[in-house]
Amino acid sequence: MEAVKNLKILNHPLVAHNLSIIRDKNTDCERFKNALRRITYSLIYEATLDLPTIKKTVETPMCEANCEVFDSRAQLIIAPILRAGMIFCEVAQDLLPFANVHHIGMYRDEETLEPVWYYDKRKEIKEDKDKVFVLLLDPMLATGNSAKDAVENFISKGVKEENIVFVSLISSPEGIKKLSSAYPKVKIITSALDEKLNSKGYILPGLGDAGDRIYNTID
Ligand code: URA
Repeated sequence: MEAVKNLKILNHPLVAHNLSIIRDKNTDCERFKNALRRITYSLIYEATLDLPTIKKTVETPMCEANCEVFDSRAQLIIAPILRAGMIFCEVAQDLLPFANVHHIGMYRDEETLEPVWYYDKRKEIKEDKDKVFVLLLDPMLATGNSAKDAVENFISKGVKEENIVFVSLISSPEGIKKLSSAYPKVKIITSALDEKLNSKGYILPGLGDAGDRIYNTID
């Protein structure tokens, strides 16, 4: 795959260890979710590296300390793509308690592989749009169709492309290419870049259907 400027793949032994638990088809739902939660902390830390901060002085029990805090003039939106994206949400809210959660409901038409929208939490963004930052959450960046649509949705509401980060657990080369060629300023944070998609748009080797494994709905 050609080099992609705004792509960051987490390369860490703990991430690799937990990914091997997640990929294993014999891992049950509870262990799957626990391993995914552990990786989510690293993904969200990486995804928020460029959030704006301001200086603040704090009194320790000893003396003054020069600190840095999130700039509260900025507005942070956590946007999980339902249903699998919800798995990232609890950790994201834990790390970013000041953020708004903006759910996006989309499912994939199994024939066309195109996203079908059924829910969009906020029709418009009223805040100072230059200061809005969006974390789009979806564990599988597969065809890239829903990722591209979700980015497009925020840009159409006035969010700056460079203020959008797409967070995924596993990505395909096809998905990264689709998203980054349409929106080169969007940052993509992922913990694995897999080999390819199969004819049904599933990632290989991947982990199967993320929603089914998270919500224990495998028939
Ligand atoms: N969605 C999934 O849950 N898994 C894939 O491999 C691709 C899309």
